Amino acid sequence: MLKAREAVRNLPAYESPIAGRKGLRLDLNENTAGCSPKVLARLREITAEEIGYYQEREPAEGMVAGHLGIERSEVVLTNGVDEAIHLLCQTFLDAGDEALLVVPTFAMYEIMGAATGARVVTVPAGENFRLPFAELLARVSSRTRLIAIANPNNPTGTVAEAEELLEIARRAPDAAVLIDEAYFEFYGKTVMGAWRAHELANLFVARTFSKAYGMAGLRAGVLTGHRGQMALVRRVSSPFNVNAVALACLPAALGDAEHVARYVQQVREGREGLRQELSRRGIHCWPSEANFVLAKFGRLKDAFIQSMTARGILVRDRGRDPGCEGCVRITVGSAEHTQRLLAALAEVMTEIGAEILPESKGETVSGSRSGTGANEGTAK
Ligand SMILES: Cc1ncc(COP(=O)(O)O)c(C=O)c1O
Repeated sequence: MLKAREAVRNLPAYESPIAGRKGLRLDLNENTAGCSPKVLARLREITAEEIGYYQEREPAEGMVAGHLGIERSEVVLTNGVDEAIHLLCQTFLDAGDEALLVVPTFAMYEIMGAATGARVVTVPAGENFRLPFAELLARVSSRTRLIAIANPNNPTGTVAEAEELLEIARRAPDAAVLIDEAYFEFYGKTVMGAWRAHELANLFVARTFSKAYGMAGLRAGVLTGHRGQMALVRRVSSPFNVNAVALACLPAALGDAEHVARYVQQVREGREGLRQELSRRGIHCWPSEANFVLAKFGRLKDAFIQSMTARGILVRDRGRDPGCEGCVRITVGSAEHTQRLLAALAEVMTEIGAEILPESKGETVSGSRSGTGANEGTAK
């Protein structure tokens, strides 16, 4: 057996979060209705030649840049935001550097950061998962080369103010500051382009086609930033990192803004419906600007997950994330799927002993069952 690099030996073994997933998948924040029919139509037209040849990324990159209102030199298309994170780590992190994260957050920052041999420094989120602005700045050191913040954050759905994010980039000029806007469409606020308006050459913004666009399986994301920095990122990227099928479908996806807008509207309504229903039953959940809600079931957590799974609805145990004990993350999907979710929720809550409260008081710890803690600890 070959010995891997030390940084790789120290990484925990990867557990697939999608093994054996059957049912309504409300566990990975995907679009439950899938991609636009225009994307499917384009897929059906793909020719053998398109698949047979390496395809240039640049035309689609130009189109995406136009859609985002920035220059092509400020954009690199990636194999999902996962790869954008990987490229940033490869470009800026050396062994012994520091990557600074606020936890809980998306697991890939830690995995990809640690894989370079950098030290991952974590700062716990503030009350109600607020961005711990002062604490984060206090941890910026001369070795900090990457700061990654998801906004909205996963798994909490909470957001930070744009001004705070820009101030972090100002106060850490030697670090690449990644603002991961994977859930942008459900939120609507961005710091895209602030590298120009605020002269922040160390600021990067990532977006994905996996969520609102419903194309997680095609793997397409975008990393954007100052053109000089993006030229460096491009050096570590394979020219063919985005597959031919995804490249062919991107124009069709961008051409169906209505599909995205309709879905986003359904998610926003469903998110509110789910929050109200949970609160009515005394289950605390945090205000979310993404396509999921994090809810605290306390010691009812495992019973809840098991009863939902038994009804064919998959939700995500986040109980092992820092500050998330007893928490479950529930994706909000199409109107039809939200209806199914709410119907199952009503049955499950009665089954596990979380009755409707006369007045919602936040977190519940009522009910008699406690569970075993399955289904935890993976990346998405
Ligand atoms: C914050 C965040 N960033 C990135 C991703 C991954 O996106 P992609 O499918 O584009 O790799 C996710 C997926 O769950 C996420 O929650």
